[in-house]
Amino acid sequence: MTAESGLSELYRAAAAAHLQPLWVETSRYVPREPSPLNRIACWPARDYQSLLHRAGEHMPVEHADRRVFVCNNPALPPFSGTTQTLYACVQLLRPGETAPAHRHTQSAFRLILSGNGAQTFLDGEPVTMHEGDFVITPALTWHGHANPGTEDVIWLDGLDNAIVRLFDATFFELPSSAGPRPDDPDRSGMKWRYPWKETLAALEDLRTTTEPDPVWGWRTRLVDPRTGRDPLPTMAVFVSLLPAGFRGQSVRSTDSTVHVCLRGAGQTETPARTLEWGRHDIFTLPSWTASRIRCESDSLLFSFSDRGAQERLECWREERLPDV
Ligand SMILES: [Fe+2]
Repeated sequence: MTAESGLSELYRAAAAAHLQPLWVETSRYVPREPSPLNRIACWPARDYQSLLHRAGEHMPVEHADRRVFVCNNPALPPFSGTTQTLYACVQLLRPGETAPAHRHTQSAFRLILSGNGAQTFLDGEPVTMHEGDFVITPALTWHGHANPGTEDVIWLDGLDNAIVRLFDATFFELPSSAGPRPDDPDRSGMKWRYPWKETLAALEDLRTTTEPDPVWGWRTRLVDPRTGRDPLPTMAVFVSLLPAGFRGQSVRSTDSTVHVCLRGAGQTETPARTLEWGRHDIFTLPSWTASRIRCESDSLLFSFSDRGAQERLECWREERLPDV
């Protein structure tokens, strides 16, 4: 038997035993650098707002449970989400409507985009939400929603669905199917709501006391005041204040990120395309995509990503690139 035919026979026998020689196509197991499956995508506010209002006319919330559109990344298979790890969704709750309680092992948050006075009930505790507020729903927190006010309320939901699914640790429970469990987390003293006024004050304080970051302008990371860490373990959340005329430095990082413009307008330039964004537009950039921000007017840019999980796994990386 020649060496070549010996190897061929070895590979055939290994394949039959469901064994793959690592030395063949090693890079398919360990790529040299990130190779994202998701791609740059955007969901303009005018599109999803109009569709939400149509859903408000045609789909009663009691039939939908949650009147939500998931921002599906067009490069991913159906039901995969917005990035490879996260879901961004938009939700409408009309005056007088309620959405019943449930809980799940995914961590979630709401960012109120428009409308005031809706409530979310977190482990039974009512939390009233105003525009710009960031409200967390940690894993296995009971949560239902109500809109006792007079305005349509639209918010962004962020969830770590795909991370929990990767672990195959997804559970979804209704109050009728499960009561409190002995291992339920202790949420006493939890800061559920991060008021918009606090976020704005932190940014204004940064503006008056520091120079803007070359990439992100003045940027604040929302953190749990009890721990100094991210409010949710998997997701990092930032809000940037970008001054009029800002010309950002290019950057790339390993966390696929979802951005939402809260005020102003601008562009995010990448080698593949330039994204134009305005108020409440949502867009996502895959891992390791070089990008830089331009804006003509004072702008506020909210972002969330799986950086929280990556930092805990010690694999997060960022590289600031020289302008060419
Ligand atoms: Fe939920």
